[in-house]
Amino acid sequence: MSTSKKRHLITSALPYANGPVHIGHLAGVYVPADIYVRYLRSKGEDVKFICGSDEHGVPITIKARQLGVSPQDVVDKYHAIIKDAFARFGISFDIYSRTSSKIHHKTAADFFRKLYDDGKFIEKETEQYYDEEAKQFLADRYIVGTCPKCGAENAYGDQCEKCGSTLSPTELINPRSAISGSKPVMKATKHWYLPLDQYEGWLRKWILEEHTEWKVNVYGQCKSWLDGGLLPRAVSRDLDWGVPVPVEGAEGKVLYVWFDAPIGYISNTIELLPNEWETWWKDENTRMIHFIGKDNIVFHCIVFPAMLKAHGGYILPENVPANEFLNLEGDKISTSRNWAVWLHEYLDEFPGQEDVLRYVLCANAPETKDNDFTWKDFQTRNNSELVAVFGNFVNRAVVLTQKYFEGKVPPRGTTDGYDNSVLAEIPLIKQRIEENLDTFHFREALKEAMNLARLGNKYLADTEPWKLAKIDMNKVATILNISLQICANLGIALEPFLPFSAAKLNRMLNVEARLWADFGRTDLLTNNYLLGEPELLFAKVEDAAIESQLKKLRDTKEANSANQRPAVAPQKAPVTFDDFGKMDIRTVTVLEAERVPKTDKLLKLKVDTGVDVRTIVSGIAEFYKPEDMIGKQVCVLINLEPRKIKGIESQGMILMAKDASGKMCLVQPSEVMVNGTTIS
Ligand code: 2FM
Ligand code: ZN
Repeated sequence: MSTSKKRHLITSALPYANGPVHIGHLAGVYVPADIYVRYLRSKGEDVKFICGSDEHGVPITIKARQLGVSPQDVVDKYHAIIKDAFARFGISFDIYSRTSSKIHHKTAADFFRKLYDDGKFIEKETEQYYDEEAKQFLADRYIVGTCPKCGAENAYGDQCEKCGSTLSPTELINPRSAISGSKPVMKATKHWYLPLDQYEGWLRKWILEEHTEWKVNVYGQCKSWLDGGLLPRAVSRDLDWGVPVPVEGAEGKVLYVWFDAPIGYISNTIELLPNEWETWWKDENTRMIHFIGKDNIVFHCIVFPAMLKAHGGYILPENVPANEFLNLEGDKISTSRNWAVWLHEYLDEFPGQEDVLRYVLCANAPETKDNDFTWKDFQTRNNSELVAVFGNFVNRAVVLTQKYFEGKVPPRGTTDGYDNSVLAEIPLIKQRIEENLDTFHFREALKEAMNLARLGNKYLADTEPWKLAKIDMNKVATILNISLQICANLGIALEPFLPFSAAKLNRMLNVEARLWADFGRTDLLTNNYLLGEPELLFAKVEDAAIESQLKKLRDTKEANSANQRPAVAPQKAPVTFDDFGKMDIRTVTVLEAERVPKTDKLLKLKVDTGVDVRTIVSGIAEFYKPEDMIGKQVCVLINLEPRKIKGIESQGMILMAKDASGKMCLVQPSEVMVNGTTIS
């Protein structure tokens, strides 16, 4: 960490306000960012932690349309849920604002306008799909059609959810508008593009030469983008939800969500520090760090820096410590499949156990590769690390002090080699935590902090002061004094990671929170200092709690497979109305029915068509017994050319609905009609 800089501007990705936040968000972005910020604050650094909701973009308008409410209603709801969940997890933002705010709209519009006035954009007209009924251009997500790769219907213009292919809307077969259902037409539209290709040389030097220290996953992704060659990127969209493009003749156009969202970091800083924000964004003595997930790398390392460079006057990020993804019980976390542990639900189901999740998510953070969250691991880490090591050590130290010294810190007498080696280890652990935090290795830093608890726990287990009580009270005093000094150090070391437990621990020790500078000292508690009441730092997570979470996930899986629609056949080539009119379909009653000998599938039916009585052979025996068919009124194509089936002349075809698995059922009029009634 460059210590010469005066202030630290820490941002964490603005989550989309189209759904609640889950453990993947917390593990990937907000827990590491919060640990880092708390660490800096504890070191007395000048730091601001900026975040807010990302409230624009097409998915929010789609959600609103699905729910029959306005996009503003959607973001109001989720902004409140997300903000509350973060606060309850102790994510200590200095501001959590939102991009639908006035101040953001103005900041983003001014930013665009400056680039526009300085001639930094390219204006381009392209042809895009337009819905003539709804009178609007269609975002890729608003165009549905048949997937050219797998034939699935209802593939989106940007992706087929069935086979996972990335698509462009013009590849879809039979595209239709998701808004009106009509066939969209191509229409010319003008947009503004940031010519990223012009920044390529500068970005190559800035990232590939001057930021070789960035995390391997981040550096690698940037390199592959840069090696692939950058293209101009549209920064506007035809949409009615977002920041309107502040240029004459741009009615119906808004800034692309990925153009306005990162500017949200600036707007939120302005909202927090209306008079000082410029020092935080423009002074070279500010270190800016973006905490994000891996899907945001290109926007934070390439696009946003290019925007800031094009604007001029702004500092650039010093580091972008992006994480990989967290999976859940072996499967990708998915909002649409409800495969997630939602933070607001966890908070209600595990009250008072916020730190347990913070701990597990940090200990298992996807820092270098995708990782898996399992409830079993959650239970094990809680029971055998937090409860058995950290909690057990602190509890024993405080309870034994109550028992033998009326809750007052006993004096440290003569120390032996073991005592001294334990005391000497404390500053070494501090150093290792710092090295790891300074380089964004949060898992390792937490492991080191827990090593301090391990050190204390082992020390008590090895020295067994409860056995010495009758023999050598001076030794007991020394052991408990050292143990309590370790406890006081744990209150500092673990505060960035486990703020609620650190506060509880400080209460037990009856001390105010101490700053990082005090970490490593072995005289934090003076002789005779009166401790507070012992409390349990952590509670065991029982099997029943884990089983109930696993059941919830099993239920989700079941519901998902029940909801999964089987593939349906793609639409056939169009027919004219005349073609259809040639088909003579009538209501017909079955008079007699029998199996066709030596076949599994065929029934021979005698039917009254209203025109005549005739024979039809139908392949429905797997689904209907002969006796079930007698008396049923069905629909029959009566002018189908007669065909011989198994030697029997069949004079017509019974209409059946047949799904992808081959299951069939009869198509019947909803009321009994006179036989021979035409169906058209
Ligand atoms: O991926 C996301 O959730 C985006 N809403 C992140 C935006 S970060 C920033 F640029 F605002
Ligand atoms: Zn497909």
